[in-house]
Amino acid sequence: MPEATETKEIPEKKKVIFSAIQPSGTFTLGNYIGALRNWVKLQNDYNCIFAVADLHAITVRQDPQKFRQNIYEAYALLLACGIDPQKSMFFIQSHVHTHAELAWILNCYTQFGELSRMTQFKDKSQKHADNVNAGLFTYPSLMAADILLYQADLVPVGIDQKQHLELSRNIAERFNGIYGNTFTVPEPYIAEVGAKVCSLQEPTKKMSKSDENVNSWIAMLDSPDVIMKKFKRAVTDSEAVVRVGEGKDGINNLIGIMSAVTGKTADEITAEFEGKGYGDFKTAVGECVVEMLRPIQKRFGDYIKNKDYLAEQYRNGAAFAEKLSRRTLDKAMKKIGFVAK
Ligand code: TYM
Repeated sequence: MPEATETKEIPEKKKVIFSAIQPSGTFTLGNYIGALRNWVKLQNDYNCIFAVADLHAITVRQDPQKFRQNIYEAYALLLACGIDPQKSMFFIQSHVHTHAELAWILNCYTQFGELSRMTQFKDKSQKHADNVNAGLFTYPSLMAADILLYQADLVPVGIDQKQHLELSRNIAERFNGIYGNTFTVPEPYIAEVGAKVCSLQEPTKKMSKSDENVNSWIAMLDSPDVIMKKFKRAVTDSEAVVRVGEGKDGINNLIGIMSAVTGKTADEITAEFEGKGYGDFKTAVGECVVEMLRPIQKRFGDYIKNKDYLAEQYRNGAAFAEKLSRRTLDKAMKKIGFVAK
């Protein structure tokens, strides 16, 4: 396990990347392919800042004990994926108070109409009809605060977060329009392959850990056995030809997953499985996913046992993030006209 690092200043020139993930249960294969593995790759070329977005997660009710464990696990799993605290700033969102502060301010520069149009708000308020709280509604302003605090140039996310990012851009532009240049206007960074990994059971929907049908999603910590079973049960079609095509959402999704994992093109995959049945294909997709996740699961097992190491890393990350983000918050508050302390 690497040594804990001293807090260092970020070197100036590289572009800044910010992204975050909610610690609401285990991560899915969709989270990994759509976002996390891209974070890992970007660490060498950018100044990367990553967070476990625990404040976002309480927009739906959480069991306290489970929630705390999920936050630890999220932090450990991101380390296991390859987020390197020596290269990137990596912290737990609630440890850095500037996020909640700027979120309040940005709420006052975000319109009711804009928030009402967010598809995630519409979906979640239907799903949790008994708890349509104000936090669920203003969630995108907190997300904008996360990003704008670090003057991020790029935000690597899956396609489902694109609308929230567009709103972040609008908020930044609106604020800059009133007060002069304050925030960098961030660009989404959406990978060509794997930006929407779909459910294995209803392949027009995105793969999501909140789906009640556990066979529809792969958890990153699922055992090899469970992963293979879930792929074997994946919905396909009656054509029995492994190719991308209309009305073949299930197979298209499986080809997309295999392509994202192995780097092979869809045509190469079609050629490889010519004359073979869906059974063979599904087994092969399952196997490549198992092999991809195996080393991550192993490292996760090591990290999660070492709470002291985790604490050292997230405290260090938060100290660094606090310092950096405070500059932006102070700048924004001064522009608005608050009295400095
Ligand atoms: P969250 O926690 O739902 O998901 C984390 C990341 O995983 C991507 N993702 C997927 N990509 C492809 N296929 C899928 N099936 C799939 N499911 C999830 C998401 O697009 C996301 O990139 N609000 C954010 C967390 C957040 C954030 C931020 C992100 C908080 N602050 C600031 C970027 C910048 C969320 O709920 O992601």
